[in-house]
Amino acid sequence: MKLVIDGVEVYYNSIPALRGASFEAQGGEVVAVIGPNGAGKTTLLRAIASIVKPLRGAIYIDGRLVNSVPPKERGKLIALVEPSISRSIPSSVLEFLLTARYPYSKLYSFTPSKRDLEVIDIIAKKLNITHLLNRRLDELSSGEFQRVLIARALIQEPRVLLLDEPTAFLDIKYRLEVMELVRYVTKEQRIISITAIHDVYLASLYADKVVLLSNGVIVAAGKPEDVFREELIENVYGVKVQILNIGDRRIVIPIQLLNNGQPT
Ligand SMILES: Nc1ncnc2c1ncn2[C@@H]1O[C@H](COP(=O)(O)OP(=O)(O)O)[C@@H](O)[C@H]1O
Ligand SMILES: [Mg+2]
Repeated sequence: MKLVIDGVEVYYNSIPALRGASFEAQGGEVVAVIGPNGAGKTTLLRAIASIVKPLRGAIYIDGRLVNSVPPKERGKLIALVEPSISRSIPSSVLEFLLTARYPYSKLYSFTPSKRDLEVIDIIAKKLNITHLLNRRLDELSSGEFQRVLIARALIQEPRVLLLDEPTAFLDIKYRLEVMELVRYVTKEQRIISITAIHDVYLASLYADKVVLLSNGVIVAAGKPEDVFREELIENVYGVKVQILNIGDRRIVIPIQLLNNGQPT
């Protein structure tokens, strides 16, 4: 499986948010999209999911132009987990998960099929949320809710899983848990996962491929060793970093603000 992002440009009211973004990813790859606030990470994910329409450029999954796939059919290719989803939906976890099967439903009918329930059962076991199925969404902790959101996206059985800041509200243990989960399902299901994350340290722990955005431009994309270079990260984030080689990983540790902590 292959995802190709080719020269994608997105504007909001004639202001560019993404300029000529290009990169590729293969099945089984964990891709991290990093960059400071406002760099264009969310815009990139939304362009891949066809929520925002690029002015120029194209996105292909296995040679198919994503924008031309009908929305229901597109749901079988791509799932996006956005951070803004409200937890105050008055439904049970199971009801919420069932809505992810919409792309597989027949016209005018939504009685869950045997297959729908099977998929939910398998994913729920994998993500350790079986005990939560009858709980209400608004009763879950942030960590549990994040697992449910990722489960819901996987229950859609997408080829490409997009996650926008999935760790933003979590403490360090749950941050690691979410990223390990993303890595595990990406490898096990041979899908492509693309996680937007502002935390370079976390990205450096888990990514196979890194896309570094700055002001709407991809300034580097490739293997972690090519992107996690002190000078590059320092220029983009304005933060002094140290890069540690631990095992086969390059771990990026933010040390202090550049400029001696003076505001720039
Ligand atoms: N709906 C919108 N309308 C206008 N400008 C937007 C909209 N969404 C994002 N932007 C702008 O586009 C740029 C990129 O935003 P975004 O993709 O959300 O960045 P990130 O996710 O990296 O923080 C920012 O300058 C932001 O202010
Ligand atoms: Mg964002």
